[in-house]
Amino acid sequence: MAMDTLDLGALVAIFLALVAYFTKGSLWAVENTHYSPTFKSASSSSSGKTRDLIETLKKTGKKAIVFYGSQTGTAEDYSYKFSKELQSRFSIPTMCCDLADYDFDKLNDIFEEIDDFCLISFFMATYGEGEPTDNANEFFEYLENECENLSNVKYTCFALGNSTYEFYNAIGKKLVEEFDKFDAKLIGKLGLGDDGKATMDEDYLSWKDELFDTLRSELNIEEKEVIYEPSIKITENNELTINDKIVSLGEPNKDYINPTTDIELKKLQFGPFNHTHPYLAPIKFSKELFNSKERNCIHAEFDLSNTNLKYSTGDHIAIWPSNSNENVFKLLEILNLSDKKNQTLPGNFRPNFKKFIKINFTLFTK
Ligand SMILES: Cc1cc2nc3c(=O)[nH]c(=O)nc-3n(C[C@H](O)[C@H](O)[C@H](O)COP(=O)(O)O)c2cc1C
Repeated sequence: MAMDTLDLGALVAIFLALVAYFTKGSLWAVENTHYSPTFKSASSSSSGKTRDLIETLKKTGKKAIVFYGSQTGTAEDYSYKFSKELQSRFSIPTMCCDLADYDFDKLNDIFEEIDDFCLISFFMATYGEGEPTDNANEFFEYLENECENLSNVKYTCFALGNSTYEFYNAIGKKLVEEFDKFDAKLIGKLGLGDDGKATMDEDYLSWKDELFDTLRSELNIEEKEVIYEPSIKITENNELTINDKIVSLGEPNKDYINPTTDIELKKLQFGPFNHTHPYLAPIKFSKELFNSKERNCIHAEFDLSNTNLKYSTGDHIAIWPSNSNENVFKLLEILNLSDKKNQTLPGNFRPNFKKFIKINFTLFTK
C-alpha cells in the first residue's frame, strides 16, 4: 500500500521526520532546542505552557496522567488510546503528555496535593543499546541523579520494544527498577509489547484487560457504561476562504508551500527540523524495481541537496498520503455534503507527523 502511495508522486508529500538516530544526543548536527539544557531549566515549555505538573493538574482538573517515551509515535499512539479509555470506561479525567514537557520534582507530591488523583501510567519505548527515547532522557536523568522518594506514587508501565534486540524492553524494565528503589507502587504487571513478534497490539490488549481488572479491585475504581463520545466536533468558519494563507488544503502546513519571507524560506531549508517540523523532500527520481503478489519494491531518491540534512543509519522517512480529489468528491456525495466542499473548518486538525506511515530504509551505496 505504501508503494502505491509513493507512486502517486505529485499527490503525495514526502517528509523526512528526522528523529531517528539513536545515538544519545545527536540530531543531524542540528541543535535540538526542544531538549536543550536551557529548555530544561525553564519553568515553561516552548509553547508557553507550564512545566509544573501540579499547577497543570490543578488548572485542568485531571486525575490521572499518561506519559509517553516515544521516538516514532507508537508509544504515543498507545498512550492516547489508553487515556481515552481511562476517561470513557472509568470516568477518570486523564491527561496524556510527552515526558519532555514536564519537570518531575513534584511527582511524589501529586498524590497528596491533588484530591482523588488516581495514577500515573507510562508507555516507554527502548532504542539503541537499551537507551531511552530522546524525549525520555531528562526523565531518566532525574530518576538517576535527583529523585529521592516516590513512595506516594501509584503507577502502571507498558514497555514497547523488540525481542530481536539484545536489550529487550530495557527502558520499561529500568523504569520499574528505578521506581522500585524509591518505593513507588506498580499497579498490575509491567506490560511487555513486542514488535519483533508483531504482537504489540495483542500484548497491549492483554496487559490492559488484566490491568483494568486490577484497577477495579485494588483501586476500587468503578467502570461505567461506555457512551459514544465523538473525538472531534466540527463547526463551520465563514470568515476564511480557501484562498486565505492560513487555510490548509490538506498539506501539513501552508507555510511549507508558500514561504513569504527569507526567514521562513531559510527555516524550511535549514531547520531546525524535528517530527513536528520535518523537511518536505522532493522525489528526485523513482522507478519500480520489482512487483510480485506480496509486495512491490520501488527505488526512490529524495533530494536533500538544498538543505543541511544528512542521512544517518536509523533515520526515517515518512509519507504524507493525500486522498485523490475523485475519492473526496465521491465521499462528499455519499454524505450529501457536496455543497460544502469549499467550506472552511476551524482547525485543531493539526497533523501529527509521528503518525505518518513510517518506513525504515536502507541506504544503497553505489
Ligand atoms: C533503531 C532502533 C533501535 C531499537 N532498539 C531497541 C532495543 O534496544 N530494545 C528493544 O526492546 N527495542 C528496540 N527497538 C524497537 C522499538 O522500541 C519499538 O519498535 C517501539 O515500538 C518503538 O516505539 P516508538 O514508535 O514509540 O518510538 C528499536 C527500534 C529501532 C528502530
